[in-house]
Amino acid sequence: MPDFAFFNKQFMPLSEAKVGIMTHALHYGTACFEGIRGNWNPEEGQMYLFRIKDHYLRLKKSCHILKINLPYSLDKLCQLTVELVERNGYQEDIYVRPVAYKSSQTVGVRLHDLEDDFFIFVTPFGPYLDIGKGARCCVSTWRRIDDNMIPPRAKITGLYVNSALAKTEAWENGFDEAILLTQEGHVSEGSGENVFLVLQGKLVTPPSSDNILMGITRDTVIKLAKNELGVDTVERPIDRSELYIAEECFLTGTAAHVTPVIEIDRRKLGNGKAGEITKKLQQLYFDVIRGKSSKYLDWCTPAYRSKLVA
Ligand SMILES: Cc1ncc(COP(=O)(O)O)c(C=O)c1O
Repeated sequence: MPDFAFFNKQFMPLSEAKVGIMTHALHYGTACFEGIRGNWNPEEGQMYLFRIKDHYLRLKKSCHILKINLPYSLDKLCQLTVELVERNGYQEDIYVRPVAYKSSQTVGVRLHDLEDDFFIFVTPFGPYLDIGKGARCCVSTWRRIDDNMIPPRAKITGLYVNSALAKTEAWENGFDEAILLTQEGHVSEGSGENVFLVLQGKLVTPPSSDNILMGITRDTVIKLAKNELGVDTVERPIDRSELYIAEECFLTGTAAHVTPVIEIDRRKLGNGKAGEITKKLQQLYFDVIRGKSSKYLDWCTPAYRSKLVA
């Protein structure tokens, strides 16, 4: 069975979904995207799409900033995604990638007087970082792009050159992930994750004004920490050196889930292993995203009308 994509307003085999080499977005990074996880629950034979509506709400805001017309309602976007996931029928964890983009076949840097289009594809997707052992991170020599350069609250493809430079620098220097600072020197975020510290038993994470993407996993963790562990989160600017003295640190993201950070700039955090609060949040989060926690089932959209058995 071929993989399917949604492209040019219809479902078609992924292998036939192609854009031309003159496509505006390819040249100027003029596209907005999302990353949505489908989490396979083998006991139930079900694929749960996590907080799909919130992802599409964020996509709509990104499109508004980039002047991209996305002619579908939230409900329609969710419905198209569920249908695409069901057509593909994977029985493993997946990643759904919707992209709204400037599709005109033309040369010229601008946002106006261009056509827009939209596609979605689905791909199998396992763990992104080592969620068991944890990640060794460095503070990047690359600074996080500022809201007045390319707004990081929008998930704009062109912005991700900043993340890619930092990620590859980190990887080439033997680290798993980079943490970027703002121009002022405050902790911003990882190349594709939000950052949390545990300081004096509380969670501390950068505020939206420090050029972060307002992560859906970030929001999930803040709520789980409060509701299930009674742990508050403080959103405030964080100094670089606070990274070194934190009791615990972890990264959150659709791809990275909740990944413990065990070392930053060759300084061990705590005993060099995942911290206790991190481990509790990780467990809660994994139960929630696989639809195993009845209290948070509203966040999980089942994609398959009938149970799929492996
Ligand atoms: C730069 C950046 N920060 C943070 C995140 C985490 O956001 P979310 O939890 O919504 O996936 C992502 C991933 O989408 C990202 O690319």
